[in-house]
Amino acid sequence: MTEAAKWIVKDPAEEDVYWPSKEMKKRAWISDESIYEEAARDPVAFWAERAREGLDWYKEWDEAYKWEPPYFKWFIGGKLNASYNCLDRHVKTWRRNKAAIIGVREPIDEEAKVLTYYDLYREVNKFANVLKSLGVKKGDRVSIYLPMIPEVQIAMLACARIGAPHSVVFSAFSSDSLKDRIIDAESKTLVTCDGYYRRGRPVNLKDNADKAVEGTTIENVIVFKRTGGEVRWAEGRDHWWHELMKDAPLYYKPEVMDSEDVLYILYTSGTTGNPKGVIHTTGGYMTQAYWTTKWDFDIHDEDVFWCTADVGWVTGHTYNCYGPLSVGATQIFYEGAPNYPEPDRMWQIIENYGVTAFYTAPTAIRMFMSWGDEWPKKHNLSSLHLLATVGEPINREAWMWYFNTIGGGRCPIIDTWWQTETGGTLINALPGVGPFIPCVAGRSFPGTRHEILDEGGKPVGLNEGGYLVQRPSFGPGMLRGVYKSPETYKTNYWSQYGNEAYYTSDGARMPKEKLFRLTGRVDDVMKVAGHRLSTAEVENAIGGHPSVAESAVVPAPDEIRGQVPWAFVRLKEGEGSDELAKEIRSHVGKVLGPTCRPDKIIFATDLPKTRSGKIMRRILRSLAKNEAVGDLTTIENPACVEELKQKVGHKAAS
Ligand code: WTA
Repeated sequence: MTEAAKWIVKDPAEEDVYWPSKEMKKRAWISDESIYEEAARDPVAFWAERAREGLDWYKEWDEAYKWEPPYFKWFIGGKLNASYNCLDRHVKTWRRNKAAIIGVREPIDEEAKVLTYYDLYREVNKFANVLKSLGVKKGDRVSIYLPMIPEVQIAMLACARIGAPHSVVFSAFSSDSLKDRIIDAESKTLVTCDGYYRRGRPVNLKDNADKAVEGTTIENVIVFKRTGGEVRWAEGRDHWWHELMKDAPLYYKPEVMDSEDVLYILYTSGTTGNPKGVIHTTGGYMTQAYWTTKWDFDIHDEDVFWCTADVGWVTGHTYNCYGPLSVGATQIFYEGAPNYPEPDRMWQIIENYGVTAFYTAPTAIRMFMSWGDEWPKKHNLSSLHLLATVGEPINREAWMWYFNTIGGGRCPIIDTWWQTETGGTLINALPGVGPFIPCVAGRSFPGTRHEILDEGGKPVGLNEGGYLVQRPSFGPGMLRGVYKSPETYKTNYWSQYGNEAYYTSDGARMPKEKLFRLTGRVDDVMKVAGHRLSTAEVENAIGGHPSVAESAVVPAPDEIRGQVPWAFVRLKEGEGSDELAKEIRSHVGKVLGPTCRPDKIIFATDLPKTRSGKIMRRILRSLAKNEAVGDLTTIENPACVEELKQKVGHKAAS
């Protein structure tokens, strides 16, 4: 390989500040910062122009934006189809034979499954016909429970083609979690597979699916054969994917969808024990998916983009499916574990396929770091021109390691702040504009506006901490509500500052004018290894164990995973033991999924409470963080705090 280009330069005057190099400015779609001002002058016109330029519409909208607090709409009366925008329009051009998805399988000796845009187009058309043959119509919800194999994009895009909103459920979630989500969405169809590979072993997914669908509205289960392992079979209900696909017609005319028709529902954790179904519609979401993919990661036709997020989370929806496919990019989609068979698997894939833009989570970066530099050093990573992160605040050490060891000190790091609710990225540096500063996400994406407010709703000064909000007009990709729960929508996002601002539940401060530094959630949502999880969900699961009287779950800091749940548990009787702690952890694993198991169970004779009997989580949070527990005057039972301090080895002075 020739010497890799240098995509960034260090600021001559300021430590830790980097700017795009001349080469980057030349390469980047956006290298002039005037875009921000131009968009701010008339954000609605800016987004309308983007929608027109980025997407193919059957009919243009009558009105670009409408704000009926707390609801907004984008591109009202506009007609389009998301699957058409991801496939048909590319198939009509030279991109027809371009690789759309390079599905890298876990077993090292199995070839990648490469789907060109034309391959993907055919599969999606056929699968849309399969769904139709099972009675799926526009508006019907389809649940998808699949691992990281290209069949998941095929299923999603087939739903979009029909106009049937999909609800993708993370394949590492338990059967109970899947069941809850099926019940809430009232899906009649589930798409799943027999299993997948994880660290060399086949994992049976069908078993979970079987348990989940019992007693629900599911009438048909479509099963993709990935491992060939043995599965139970319910005649009449279960269908093999390959059998249905065999004779499926090759074309399905895309349904003409309204801009505000639902594209998908994605369940995510809020502050209550029940996950909420975040609703995303078509026109606005696709506009944001398209432009953020193109501008944030600077995707051109020759790029190879790799977003490592699981498709079960919003990052996987927007940056493993709708974003890269709508811009006509080539993307890597990797089935397996990052350290299988060796801890250099990711770097091997980057080298093999010439990945140019790599998007992952800080938790993954910290894990790679802990495995040692020798693994990336074994590989030539000079194809990379850009690195990006998402999911949680990145610490300086991880940023520097990513920057130097993976990026060779040549690549910008695009730290993207966003949420399931926002549909696409909202705060980050643009590669051709910068600046790139460790731990600072950057500016509001052009055409959006964020502020940091104090409790009373006043903007805070530079470097002062406060609450991050979004001001109207809102990003077109924002959620349009919570499925079947308008109250949740109102109280979660619109009760703190009324209809003046969308409340993000994130803390932030501005180190410099217009630049945002995110400091983490301010509600009871944890980010465990980048995965969003509510403390209440874990508490509910623990409460289901027969020995437990009550529990309180709080996040504790973890060097690699960012945060991990700690559970303070009071038993109905007895002392608690390692054995019981193990049992409770595995119980949570069964109820929610293995990623949700508490790291530590602390048995307590009592939990700290107010006089009215409310558990004082503030104190437990301080214990978990090893911080001073603060004022104990409002506490009913201060003695228990001493007991807990001893149990967790709390050392901070009070
Ligand atoms: C956090 C993931 C700091 C934040 C796309 C947010 C971040 C939550 C960043 C949403 C970032 C996401 N810096 N924090 N770059 N990106 N977050 O819904 O707390 O899984 O509210 O969406 O992740 O998590 P979710």
